[in-house]
Amino acid sequence: MSKHFPERGTPWDALKAQMEEMAAGDIDWRHGRNGYNVFFAGPDVLEVIKEAYTMFISENGLNQGAFPSLKVMEDEVVQMALDLFEAPDGAAGGMTSGGTESIIMAVKACRERAHEQGKDTSNANIVIPYSGHPAFNKAGHYLGLEVIRTPIDGETRLPDLEAFEAAIDENTIMCVGSAPAFPSGVVEQIPELSEIARARGIWFHVDACVGGYFAPFAEMNGVELPAYNFKNRGVSSLSADLHKFGYAAKGASTVLYRSEDLQKYQKTDFDVWPSGRMVTPTLAGTRPGGAIAAAWAVMNYLGKEGYAAKAKVILETRARLEQGLADLGYKVYGPSKLMIINFGKEGLELFGLWGAMNKRGWWPGATVDPPALHMMLTPAHEAALDDFLKDLAEATEEAEKGQAEAKEVRYS
Ligand SMILES: Cc1ncc(COP(=O)(O)O)c(C=O)c1O
Repeated sequence: MSKHFPERGTPWDALKAQMEEMAAGDIDWRHGRNGYNVFFAGPDVLEVIKEAYTMFISENGLNQGAFPSLKVMEDEVVQMALDLFEAPDGAAGGMTSGGTESIIMAVKACRERAHEQGKDTSNANIVIPYSGHPAFNKAGHYLGLEVIRTPIDGETRLPDLEAFEAAIDENTIMCVGSAPAFPSGVVEQIPELSEIARARGIWFHVDACVGGYFAPFAEMNGVELPAYNFKNRGVSSLSADLHKFGYAAKGASTVLYRSEDLQKYQKTDFDVWPSGRMVTPTLAGTRPGGAIAAAWAVMNYLGKEGYAAKAKVILETRARLEQGLADLGYKVYGPSKLMIINFGKEGLELFGLWGAMNKRGWWPGATVDPPALHMMLTPAHEAALDDFLKDLAEATEEAEKGQAEAKEVRYS
């Protein structure tokens, strides 16, 4: 044990200095050196979410009776989200701490409903393409459901629709598609996938966690996408994270349902203990008021116009990056039109390349299938792009000559 609980306190100035020193070793996200993790939309946006978070840092989203301010803000965040994702009248939703919690909540609601409908959920399953986020396996593990993954096409990275359909059996209670998928950034065929589920009376969830708050604004910039939201009548629920391309403070996601009747299965209602009835809408008990407040503030601060302007910057950066990658002989995997770009080069050792980039101050993402780098472009990457391409050219040469020190990148 190298650190013991301190006997006495330390003045804040000294602690702050110590924390600043620790942060000096972190990846320089303010200058776009990160490939994921931080979604920096500029100093003004950061100021808004910091102030809003701080204003409600002590308030507890668990007790909205005591904090009607948080109830108003959460209700309005959800209303704005339902509007953005074209939900029908009667749709409902709530906020959670992030994509994983939103997904676990949707899976829980689906399972409880199936149980109430008299289905045997002891060996029920979820069918999801190979490209789906591991949060579904986490949900399956926690909730006792099998997760069946189905193949995607090697070139387009899109789910094989026939294999998806064939994997569904009498125990399937949920089907899933991503909009977009994390690894490739490709928006999957939600109209076809959700229709396959609907035709069998199966709950369909759209995982729009990473790009839900980007795709509509890319469309406003002329990008054409398949319908990925509640416009598809087979879509039962949808998750979209505010703490990613909603540019909110961390700890904020939305999970939305086609109807209140579907959402009602999300909550936990318990009263067999001395303190009486406790109703919690999500996994958490105590919920950070700051995360709700910061999300509400940034959505109102930017509005559709502000988000569309950020999306424009990202799309232009993507086009410049694609050109630079082509000049270096890189191939972009999957026809993503959004903010995720997955690129590699035949025969290039991935972890050598990653190590060579990391040595130059970058923290890109990576995929192992195909072995390739991965970037989630944010507004901060506009100014970083020239440096990125210059360093990528050097790192590529180093890796090609076998001179790079390999480093394995893991999402942990
Ligand atoms: C498509 C998708 N789903 C779910 C998640 C999980 O979100 P979180 O990390 O906020 O729990 C992510 C995270 O990147 C994601 O990209």
